[in-house]
Amino acid sequence: MKELRAKVLENVPVAAGVNRLTFLLPEAVEGLRCGRFVNLSVGDGAHLLRRPIAICEYSENTVTVCYQIKGAGTRLLAQRRAGDMLSCVLPLGNGFVLRENEQRVALIGGGVGVFPMLSVLHAYKGSGRQFYSYIGFRNKAAVCAEEAFKALSACCAIVTDDGSYGAFIASERFGGLRVSADAERSLPADRKDEGGQAFRRMNAVAAFFEDAERAKPDVILACGPLPMLRVLKAGLAERGLRVPCYVSLEERMGCGIGACLVCVCDTEGGEHARVCKDGPVFSIGEVKL
Ligand SMILES: Cc1cc2nc3c(=O)[nH]c(=O)nc-3n(C[C@H](O)[C@H](O)[C@H](O)COP(=O)(O)OP(=O)(O)OC[C@H]3O[C@@H](n4cnc5c(N)ncnc54)[C@H](O)[C@@H]3O)c2cc1C
Ligand code: FES
Repeated sequence: MKELRAKVLENVPVAAGVNRLTFLLPEAVEGLRCGRFVNLSVGDGAHLLRRPIAICEYSENTVTVCYQIKGAGTRLLAQRRAGDMLSCVLPLGNGFVLRENEQRVALIGGGVGVFPMLSVLHAYKGSGRQFYSYIGFRNKAAVCAEEAFKALSACCAIVTDDGSYGAFIASERFGGLRVSADAERSLPADRKDEGGQAFRRMNAVAAFFEDAERAKPDVILACGPLPMLRVLKAGLAERGLRVPCYVSLEERMGCGIGACLVCVCDTEGGEHARVCKDGPVFSIGEVKL
């Protein structure tokens, strides 16, 4: 873990209220990995607490994060321009690690939880694994990273809570999977766009359960709002699906390095875990949601 001054290379909108920020590190940093996060200063001394943001993509000395402009801190962050300097502490947390026997991987992401899922796709690109991505957004305006998910997944379902957009895409690189829109899958339609294409109101977890038998994942990775993860945990138990499942949790954080205990969550064993240091990735059976 290092504290560094990084130079903003790009800070641009990628969807309604969501920016992609790439910064240049002054030196190579070891241990960058999908699912780990960076604690970023937002650019002025008034907001002393750094903001935790998942690492979305990285190279030896650049890091890209995507963040929702939510409160005062991220509003300030959105004002940073190319050339501005930001202080950052990285890499933090444990991150996602896929085992050799985990070749079919289901990724379930909701809202800004899609970005840690995207980091998994980037990290394991070219590994030969088949990724089944189920990503959900509030509405069409919030949809982002669609092209990257389509390009890097064997199969990708994009769904929206309000049904204003949706797509079910199977990459042609993998034979045998249908390339179809929801309408063509004979699913009941809630809404049609100008072209007459029908979309359903759906969330990422429901999309996964609908497709789980075909995807047959060896492992499930998920990140999103707590209610989404609760539904996932309950759904796995109801269906008796005994697939290893790892979730990345979001908690309010102070130090980000395990010292202040602001971020503790309860474990099923009756103990506490620090989301910043022991997580943010936990086995879904390990933590109370
Ligand atoms: C491990 C981790 C990874 C994250 N990755 C992403 C990401 O990739 N993209 C993204 O858009 N957001 C991500 N978040 C959430 C992001 O940290 C908050 O949205 C952000 O801190 C809000 O700051 P703010 O000043 O704009 O909001 P305010 O609500 O004004 O923040 C006030 C305080 O609450 C904290 N806070 C508010 N919401 C959250 C939250 N959901 N989680 C943690 N702390 C919060 C802030 O850090 C700050 O200290 C992540 C959070 C964690 C813990
Ligand atoms: S944020 Fe301080 S211990 Fe986790």
